[in-house]
Amino acid sequence: MKLPIGHALTRDEQDAIAAEGIDNWNAYLRRFPKTKDRDRDRVLVEWSGEGSIIRNIYGDEYVDCLGGYGIFSLGHRHPEVVAAVKDQLDRMPLHSQYLVNPITAEAGRRLAEVLPGNLKRTFFCNSGTEAVEGALKLARLHTKKGGFVSTENSFHGKSLGSLSVTGRPVFREPFRPLLQDVTFVPYGSAAAIDKAIGSDTAAVILEPVQGEGGVIVPPEAYWPEVREICTRRGVLLIADEVQTGLGRTGALFGVNHWNVVPDILCLAKALSGGVVPCGSFTTTDEIFAAFHGNPMWHSSTFGNNPLAATAASMAIEITVRDRLSERSARLGADLLRRLRSLQAKHPRVIIEVRGKGLLIGIETKNESVGAVLAERLYAKRILVAYALNKPEVVRIEPPLNIPEDLLDRLVAALDESLAGLVA
Ligand SMILES: Cc1ncc(COP(=O)(O)O)c(C=O)c1O
Repeated sequence: MKLPIGHALTRDEQDAIAAEGIDNWNAYLRRFPKTKDRDRDRVLVEWSGEGSIIRNIYGDEYVDCLGGYGIFSLGHRHPEVVAAVKDQLDRMPLHSQYLVNPITAEAGRRLAEVLPGNLKRTFFCNSGTEAVEGALKLARLHTKKGGFVSTENSFHGKSLGSLSVTGRPVFREPFRPLLQDVTFVPYGSAAAIDKAIGSDTAAVILEPVQGEGGVIVPPEAYWPEVREICTRRGVLLIADEVQTGLGRTGALFGVNHWNVVPDILCLAKALSGGVVPCGSFTTTDEIFAAFHGNPMWHSSTFGNNPLAATAASMAIEITVRDRLSERSARLGADLLRRLRSLQAKHPRVIIEVRGKGLLIGIETKNESVGAVLAERLYAKRILVAYALNKPEVVRIEPPLNIPEDLLDRLVAALDESLAGLVA
């Protein structure tokens, strides 16, 4: 399918692309669950994105309040990220892996400049699960211990190592045996972590706010207490900021809310600038030194590529320059307040509204109510999604630079959609 940019599609072309897209998807990829009737479901075929808007193949506009589960903190096709990436594309998208690439080195510096404490040395990779894999390996190498403490209902990715510390049995069970020495404790209890740490524990891994777990915000004292425990017990603390990183929760990093400096911090999703996949984990010089023993203990062909590094540098620059963390905090607080009034109006359908910044969860009475609510919003051209580990929670995760009138539209659409919804 070769179409010049700017080519206005005829209706026949739109129909053909939609039909072919659905057929190809269902024949060659994992079946798309929402496509039951090809002709009726043609509107599900996405075609372009701009800012907080996604357009389907027919040009219908949807407000993106899902934000690719955290990818689109800068919205779709942020013009500065796109321009920088295009320049790099024309110069050198991938790297030799033999010479020094200054673009990737600069992304490392920029990350170090904004990360808390002495988190300084970065390993770039391509996704969230890879960031977690690398962090787990580094923790083992540095501590010479094997075990991990994680939390129930956490989500850290689906490759075998990350899956081993993901606290949702339904994802883990079919793939056993996984890493053996992993203990899961309830999220929010520092005492439980203290108790679970044993003589062979290498690290504790935590999300600042559990995203897929249903947007669970921990008690205020949790992170500082866990930091103190890890330091006292000689165990590393890994912050999985794959979803919370780069302004999502109203601070540049989730751990900043509590002035905690973890030993390793993982990023992905928004680090892409919404344009080129990028992941990373960053640690101190001292901990990273464990990797120096053999540079081949951990490596990635595409990891340090300058195209993704360009996107990452721009994502950091724009987020900081445009004060998007502050914007996320302000818009998130306002949205929480308005959603809580909706809860007061529809108490039988909404159990709780919670969140931090623009990572917000609306807990509905049950899974099917959540699904109907999401469908009704979709019919009103607003995209939201449920939380992977807790499907009754409808998740709101829009771009941090979303125009405020689009959030007004979300609230109005929710109000209308909740009316007459019986739990
Ligand atoms: C906190 C957290 N860690 C890790 C991951 C895995 O990221 P990826 O899907 O890029 O592998 C996710 C994805 O949702 C996540 O939310």
